[in-house]
Amino acid sequence: MDNITEVIKRRYNRTAMFYDWMDFMISDSVRKDALSMAKGKVLEVGVGTGKNLSLYPSRCKITGIDFSKEMLKRARDKAKKLNLSVELLEMDAQKMDFDDNTFDTVVSTCVFCSVPDPVKGLEEVKRVCKPNGQIILLEHVRSANPAIGKVMDFLNPITLKMVGSNINRETVGNVNKAGISLKEVADVGKTKILKLIIAEPEGFKEQKCH
Ligand SMILES: C[S@@+](CC[C@H](N)C(=O)[O-])C[C@H]1O[C@@H](n2cnc3c(N)ncnc32)[C@H](O)[C@@H]1O
Repeated sequence: MDNITEVIKRRYNRTAMFYDWMDFMISDSVRKDALSMAKGKVLEVGVGTGKNLSLYPSRCKITGIDFSKEMLKRARDKAKKLNLSVELLEMDAQKMDFDDNTFDTVVSTCVFCSVPDPVKGLEEVKRVCKPNGQIILLEHVRSANPAIGKVMDFLNPITLKMVGSNINRETVGNVNKAGISLKEVADVGKTKILKLIIAEPEGFKEQKCH
C-alpha cells in the first residue's frame, strides 16, 4: 500500500496545477451547505487546494491535512490571500499524527475516492473524532444504476491514471466497514452519484445503501 500511496500522491502533485480549473464536481453552495454543520475543532482531510477554507462558519477552528505538497501549497496561498487563520499540515489520512478524540468535526469532500486504502483512512477519521463529534463527508460514489455503474468501472482506470481519483468507490459501504455510525445519507443533485454522508464515530449502525 505504501507504493500505491506514493503513486497517488505523485498524481495529485501533478494535478495540483490544474485542479481548481478542472474541478466542477461540487459547487460552492453545496460545499457551504455541508460545512454549515461543522463546529468546534474541525479537521478537513484531503484539504486539496483549499476550496472549502473560506466557506466554514466563523465559529470553526480549522486544521487541514493533505499528503500532496503541491495541493497544500495552493491551499496555503489561498489561506494567506484570504487572511484565513488555518493550520495546514502534510499528513497521510491513512496514518494521522493526531491523538485519539481530538476533533469535534471531521470533514472530507471528494477525498475517499482517492485515499488508497479508504477503510483505513475512515478508521483514522473515527479514531481522531471525539465520541460525540460529527463526521461530514461529501463524496462521489459508484452509481447504483447497474449500467452506469459498469460504465464507471470501465472508465475508472483512466481517471485513476490521469488524476488519482476512483469514480467507482462504494464509500457508504466503506464507512460501514470502518465501523462509523451513519446518521444520514442524502443525494446531492439528480445524478445520485454525489452523496452527503453525516455520521458519528460511536454507536455503529450499518446502513445498506450506496
Ligand atoms: C479530489 S481532491 C479533493 C480536494 C478537496 N477536498 C476539494 O474538495 O476540492 C482529493 C484530495 O485528497 C488528497 N488525498 C488523497 N489521498 C490522501 C491521503 N491518503 N492522505 C491525505 N490526503 C489525501 C489528495 O492529495 C487531494 O488533494
